[in-house]
Amino acid sequence: MVSTDHEAVVSAALEKYSSTEGALLPILHEIQDALGYIPPDTIDVIGKGINRSRAEVHGVVSFYHHFRTHKPGRHIIQVCRSEACQAVGALGVIEKLKRTLGIDFHESTSDGQITLEPIYCLGHCACAPALMVNGEPRAKMTPDLVDSLVNELRTKSHDD
Ligand code: FES
Repeated sequence: MVSTDHEAVVSAALEKYSSTEGALLPILHEIQDALGYIPPDTIDVIGKGINRSRAEVHGVVSFYHHFRTHKPGRHIIQVCRSEACQAVGALGVIEKLKRTLGIDFHESTSDGQITLEPIYCLGHCACAPALMVNGEPRAKMTPDLVDSLVNELRTKSHDD
């Protein structure tokens, strides 16, 4: 059973793209842009809407790192794990983020404020280590800058 909130978003995405060639990806993007993730309870409905099996839809969702199947926190930190970033210290940044937030990749803090995710080459290799914070690129991250980043996001949450 799809929740009412999800149903409206999925119906709109299906209506917009179901007659398009290769509809599945744009439908998934549309749903994730609206809800922040692809709720597992929508997989069947998406499949039925474009004559694809549940397994096919699930396969595509799990193949692409971009799609998440859990509701994210209010803020999303995505850290580049590709080579150029690793070569200049991304692993130290990742360790510090995990320790400071008390979570691993694909998890959210217990207050639901911050989600940590890996990402693969943002195209900002010249400014490595790079990350994205709520979709905005951040350059030359260091473990020492992690505390101020986390404080900045927690303060933002308080102000909103
Ligand atoms: S390798 Fe990290 S931005 Fe390219």
